[in-house]
Amino acid sequence: MTVSVGAIMFRKLFVLAVLALVAGLGVFWFVTIPAVVSAEALPAYSPNVANGEAVFNAGGCASCHAVTGEPRTMLGGGLAIPSPFGTFYAPNISPHKQNGIGNWTEANFVTAMKHGTSPGANTTIPHSPMARISTRRRRTSATCSPTSRPCRRCRAASALTT
Ligand code: HEC
Repeated sequence: MTVSVGAIMFRKLFVLAVLALVAGLGVFWFVTIPAVVSAEALPAYSPNVANGEAVFNAGGCASCHAVTGEPRTMLGGGLAIPSPFGTFYAPNISPHKQNGIGNWTEANFVTAMKHGTSPGANTTIPHSPMARISTRRRRTSATCSPTSRPCRRCRAASALTT
């Protein structure tokens, strides 16, 4: 049986295309693995509340996470932020155990600030200024707003279209 040169070329190209597809999917899988900062990666550190407040103010956390009309340390969230991908709702980041982040560990907090990944791999938008600052500052902001009280306000899930 004779096989034309064209058919051999076609087969080679087809195999190459499949390999390229597999490699591409592998890279996609790798870059989209939710990154996590482990507790062991956090060196010993004693929180400084004054620094925490400074980072909280500089980061403008209250402008999105405070409840409209409430004190700026009432971090019950709710602000709707429209985007081309759908509407983001600023979540409750008060110390409330169910509706806020009261059950988060410090490593959970640093992970969310650094990589935009919440526990349970629920992604949050990267907090771009926070992604660039040092882990020490990020940890500091976890101790922000010492007067923040647990806020029972339920969180609205962001309604994204993609
Ligand atoms: C421009 C508005 C905005 C600012 C400013 C902002 N956030 Fe957020 N934050 C959001 C939104 C919106 C989400 C949820 C994104 C989503 O639903 O994917 C979020 C999510 C979070 C989460 C994850 C909560 C969860 O339950 O998953 C934490 C923690 C957080 N923000 C802390 C902070 C801190 C600390 C600051 C200040 C340093 C800050 N944010 C500043 C809008 C903001």
